Amino acid sequence: MKSLKEQILELKKKKNAVILAHYYQEDAIQEIADYVGDSLGLSQEAMKVDAAIILFAGVHFMAETAKILNPTKKVILPDLKAGCSLAESCPPDLFKKFIDEHPRHLVITYVNCSAEIKAMSNIVCTSSNAVKIVESVPKEIPIIFAPDKNLGKYIISKTGRDMLLWDGSCVVHEAFSLDKLIEVYKQHPDAKIIAHPESETHILETASYIGSTAGMIDYVITNPSNKFIVATEIGILYKMQQLVPEKILIPAPAKEDNTCACSECAYMKMNTLQKVYDCLLNESPEINVSEDIRKKALLPIERMLELSK
Ligand code: 13P
Ligand code: SF4
Repeated sequence: MKSLKEQILELKKKKNAVILAHYYQEDAIQEIADYVGDSLGLSQEAMKVDAAIILFAGVHFMAETAKILNPTKKVILPDLKAGCSLAESCPPDLFKKFIDEHPRHLVITYVNCSAEIKAMSNIVCTSSNAVKIVESVPKEIPIIFAPDKNLGKYIISKTGRDMLLWDGSCVVHEAFSLDKLIEVYKQHPDAKIIAHPESETHILETASYIGSTAGMIDYVITNPSNKFIVATEIGILYKMQQLVPEKILIPAPAKEDNTCACSECAYMKMNTLQKVYDCLLNESPEINVSEDIRKKALLPIERMLELSK
């Protein structure tokens, strides 16, 4: 009897499919993926895919971005309900009203939003290029930044730009406890704290490094320290630990005690190995974006990719 992993790999070949996975996916999914990366890397990779099917092991906005960038491919997502609290915090009708009230503002949106929101934006960014993208805008042009207020505040602190922020946040990164983090740090004073910029300001202020998931992985590889307290979703530790097997990685503690005393993204974890198999077999659920929205959303994503070179 073949294992589920073996069956997926066989089916993937037969269907001419590629599996792209985010670092927050469960270990078993990362193991069978063709590429594992952060939002920017996944977008760049999706654009290059030549196979007939892209199975996106991530959340809805990521699969949608892949479809926008590579529309002739069939893009499938193991669980359609794998959303994102940031994307959900920004409904298109309310966002349209907000930008209409500020017609002089340039609209920069974090990639964690729906295709409709991207279609209303001037430039998209990810956590790995957000500061660079905001800095590329002439100082006299006012900016709306949405949907992540925590990332927005971080960009303001780095650039000195006074941006209008949408009131959205990531439930996972807002779950870190400063008090518990300080406790862990007291036990490991030789550790470096590293954090994702979706975290709240008081967490970011403790960090030696702030960056995207890919940036955090690069940091632990290149930094000479031996111990790191990692303030992002727990799934990142799988790839990180593989790359630095000799180093000690400690997950930053969450406010509420849960099963792993860490932060887990319930949306990311909706994808399972069984759902990956079923999704490949049925070529469903499929991600579709209307051509009108796709064309409008493509422009700000292309601007981001150009500015990220
Ligand atoms: P990255 O682009 O840094 O991987 O972040 C995506 C995300 O959803 C973080 O919560
Ligand atoms: Fe969205 Fe937060 Fe989950 Fe990332 S970790 S997908 S921002 S809910």
